[in-house]
Amino acid sequence: MSKPDFSSPSVVIQDLKNHIGQSIILRGWVANKREGKGIAFVIVRDGTGFCQCVVTPETANDDYLAVAQGLTLETSVVLHGVVKADEKQLGGIEIQVSQLDVVGISENYPIAKKEHGIEFLMDQRHLWLRSTRQWAIMRIRNTIIFAIHEYFQSQGFVQMDAPIFTGNACEGTSTLFETDFYGEAAYLSQSGQLYGEAMAMAMGKIYTFGPTFRAEKSKTRRHLSEFWMIEPEMAFYDIFQNMDCIEGFLQFVIGKVLAQCSAELETIGRDTSVLKSSLGSFPRMTYDQAVRIIKGEEEVNGVNSIKSLEDELGACEAKLQEIDAEIADREAKMATPGTKKGEIIFHQTKITQLKQEKTDIEEDLRNIPQWIASAKNFEYGNDFGGSDETVLTRLFDRPVMVYDWPHEVKAFYLKRNPSDDRFARGVDVLAPEGYGEIVGGGERETDLASLTAKIEEHQLPMESFEWYLDLRKYGSVPHAGFGLGLERLVTWVCKLKHVRESIPFPRMYGRLTP
Ligand code: 4AD
Ligand code: MG
Repeated sequence: MSKPDFSSPSVVIQDLKNHIGQSIILRGWVANKREGKGIAFVIVRDGTGFCQCVVTPETANDDYLAVAQGLTLETSVVLHGVVKADEKQLGGIEIQVSQLDVVGISENYPIAKKEHGIEFLMDQRHLWLRSTRQWAIMRIRNTIIFAIHEYFQSQGFVQMDAPIFTGNACEGTSTLFETDFYGEAAYLSQSGQLYGEAMAMAMGKIYTFGPTFRAEKSKTRRHLSEFWMIEPEMAFYDIFQNMDCIEGFLQFVIGKVLAQCSAELETIGRDTSVLKSSLGSFPRMTYDQAVRIIKGEEEVNGVNSIKSLEDELGACEAKLQEIDAEIADREAKMATPGTKKGEIIFHQTKITQLKQEKTDIEEDLRNIPQWIASAKNFEYGNDFGGSDETVLTRLFDRPVMVYDWPHEVKAFYLKRNPSDDRFARGVDVLAPEGYGEIVGGGERETDLASLTAKIEEHQLPMESFEWYLDLRKYGSVPHAGFGLGLERLVTWVCKLKHVRESIPFPRMYGRLTP
């Protein structure tokens, strides 16, 4: 037998279309295999894509056919073959294999084709990343990261990095991870913003892009303990220019995903209509208006939030009855004597699908009454909870921006609205489809006395903010910025159920491995 060829030039799957009719070498892993009499179909993946490779005695000798037939999931291989165009195949390509050599055998690969529970898959994250769906999500994440840099670089921003060890709390003291920094208490950064402000005074427009940490002892679908944040900060920007920047930036990034990731979006079954409508302008509203909409006191395009939730509740109940009836009907057919085996399998598959649909509807049936109750009982002056964000954003087909928040619920560094000082000039961007907050930002307080008073009010240690206060003493200017949670954006763009699938190795309450 031959040995795997590591040294000759090879072609990656995404470039195969430029090599039709040529003999090439491909290196990758076995993602799937089917065999028939005297033939094997091997789906190979190499990180750039997936491709069907056919092994028959017509093009490969019998030894290679035997190797192909013995292949197991995730075995690594080097193969030689001719690239054929074939409309019916994945990516319109098929390889006719002439030589196939095993590099590393994979025995009893733990992730099988059958359904696995989420905790099992999370424990196998180091392997799970190889699966098609995870691969597609990570490619979309990569496109988003590149687009973020592309946007800010093209707009004259300078990327600068904020430290991770810090001596101060940016976003409140309750979510700090404390570490020992040569005998002194230090915290893992919750946000690079305060440093971003210093850097904007040096460079004009900057952005940071780094890991940030929040010790949040709660298991929700939106919270990670370690996540990546993009934080632009702009000198001479007010809150409205800040909102223009957020909107242009998000539209650019979403546009890139739509233009470059259509195959990945299709792989994960993402309906892209909402992403497309997000290329249009984002509604902007004050906190006051958002509260009226949530409580059903103001309509959005003729739709009342509470009424529409009640209607949906009714529709869910009707749908559930329909599903139950269909399941009963199929079960009866399966139990009828004389039903063919193929038919039974068909009904069984349908029933499994229906049960999944039922679980989703039952979840809505549990959630909607809670949303209605929390919307009706929302107390003016409070911060928005997850359900308030859901109630509001379900009325829109694109992100919405809510600004001018009661200053008591927002961070110490936000500027007050000069014409009504009950409000702080913060802005949250809430993603549609129930996703909620993806961006938090605002215009910064520039007045030294107000800032000092806020630091005292929040009972933060003044000493560790001395340097930050200096920025208000030496040529202070109006400025604003925001923070985008990368994983929150990826989660929404991919319409994932939980933020844990948006990052290669999630760190969250209850999970430190792998
Ligand atoms: O709203 P936050 O706390 O704002 C700040 O940190 C500001 N200093 C940003 C700034 O103005 N420069 O966080 C910003 C964003 C949130 O909107 C959310 O997308 C994300 O960071 N985020 C989280 N993502 C995942 N897990 C968590 N625990 C998160 N906490 C915040
Ligand atoms: Mg926030």
